[in-house]
Amino acid sequence: MDKAQLIIDGKTLDLPIITGSENEKGIDVTQLRPTTNFITYDPSYGNTGSCISDITYINGEEGILRYRGYPIEQLADNSSFVEVIYLLLYGELPNKEEYDQFNKDLTYHTLIHEDMKRFFDGYPMNAHPMGVLASTVAALSTFYPARVDGDIELNIIRILAKVKTLAAFAYKKSIGQPLIYPKNDLGYEENFLHMMFAVPSEEFTIDPVMAEALRLLLILHADHEQNCSTSTVRMVGSSRANLFISIAAGIGALWGALHGGANQRVIEMLRMIHSDGDNYQKYIDLAKDKNSNFKLMGFGHRVYKNFDPRAKILKRSADTLLNKMGINDPLLNIAQELEKVALKDEFFVARNLYPNVDFYSGIIYRALGIPTKMFTVMFALGRLPGWIAQWKEMRNAEVPRIYRPRQIYTGATKRDFIPMKKR
Ligand code: SDX
Repeated sequence: MDKAQLIIDGKTLDLPIITGSENEKGIDVTQLRPTTNFITYDPSYGNTGSCISDITYINGEEGILRYRGYPIEQLADNSSFVEVIYLLLYGELPNKEEYDQFNKDLTYHTLIHEDMKRFFDGYPMNAHPMGVLASTVAALSTFYPARVDGDIELNIIRILAKVKTLAAFAYKKSIGQPLIYPKNDLGYEENFLHMMFAVPSEEFTIDPVMAEALRLLLILHADHEQNCSTSTVRMVGSSRANLFISIAAGIGALWGALHGGANQRVIEMLRMIHSDGDNYQKYIDLAKDKNSNFKLMGFGHRVYKNFDPRAKILKRSADTLLNKMGINDPLLNIAQELEKVALKDEFFVARNLYPNVDFYSGIIYRALGIPTKMFTVMFALGRLPGWIAQWKEMRNAEVPRIYRPRQIYTGATKRDFIPMKKR
């Protein structure tokens, strides 16, 4: 079948069918308005493809996630985060020479301009690190203004290298500790942990168990096709806004409680249940009550109608990490019980509500000593290469047009102005 037929006002319109490499089907409506004056209507884009893409494949029914064809499970077991960044950006896993050069570039650009340090003096102590991250990433565009669009490849390296420094500086600022500079002899995860937890007065040794847990978290968050924040990055970039400000917009979208902000709210929810005598059944019943406005944070997904493969990996990793670190976190036990009961409950089963990536990630961040307010920043660190790869793909599209959806107007019809004295 290579076309769909639409009958409007007695006329039959042939609409081409697009078939993806995994046999996904789409109806191409690009000629709908020019030929019929009709538009489609799909308010949260649940049935709308905004682009064709070679980067990430998700099969929500079967719980499949692949970056450039590689299953997430294999990348989680075998790859470094820097390899995954390279894969998402350039489409292939790097060989040794490509990896070494790329890793050197990322390391070389980790420092931020000394003038940017003054930004951190201006934020209040209790500033949410996501607000700090979004504004400082946007400000990177003021430090590289002249050729902000001319040096796209260099700016990609810059933002990948500098965002972990900005994130760590935001954390240090929030606890009133001195900023710790990056060390060029450390790997990506080790450098971040060092900037986060080292203090000038003491020798800091990186715990390889922590670095390994961070590697896994970053890889699992690296891309997820056209989610809310990635679509935002594409939308902003489609106007030819520069990469820095496009990514800052994506950070803003990710902050929302229904998106990347959920990982912070999962832990807050688990803490609330724990302080309420571990009465998780009460909160499951609350989530089922339409009038409660309470959602089980970390559950449900627009695409996955089966287990989020990332949640499966994180659940296993949380267990192993806490055992390795000798941590008995009551919140993990509550999360596991919550999952068990919810997955048997008709309300959740009928709506295909399974744990998503945010449900277990917070347990691991906690074990790493990362404060709750930094959880979504960690999500942003992981997602950064995906945002950039999608932004690049949008910019290099055959006909890179500005994103501009239409609407159905339901407001007042034409009426004449009424002077104030007559109102
Ligand atoms: C991420 O898109 C991505 O790929 C995102 C992400 C990524 O990697 O980029 O995977 C990361 O954002 C994961 C999602 C994190 N958010 C949360 O955990 C917040 C809680 N989840 C929900 O808000 C919700 O499930 C969403 C936002 C994730 C999905 O929302 P949808 O697709 O719009 O689904 P919906 O709100 O229309 O829900 C369908 C039904 C509704 O009930 P009915 O009206 O049919 O009776 O399921 C119910 C909802 O009330 N429901 C929930 C629920 N999630 C959906 N009920 C209780 N608890 C929940 N968590």
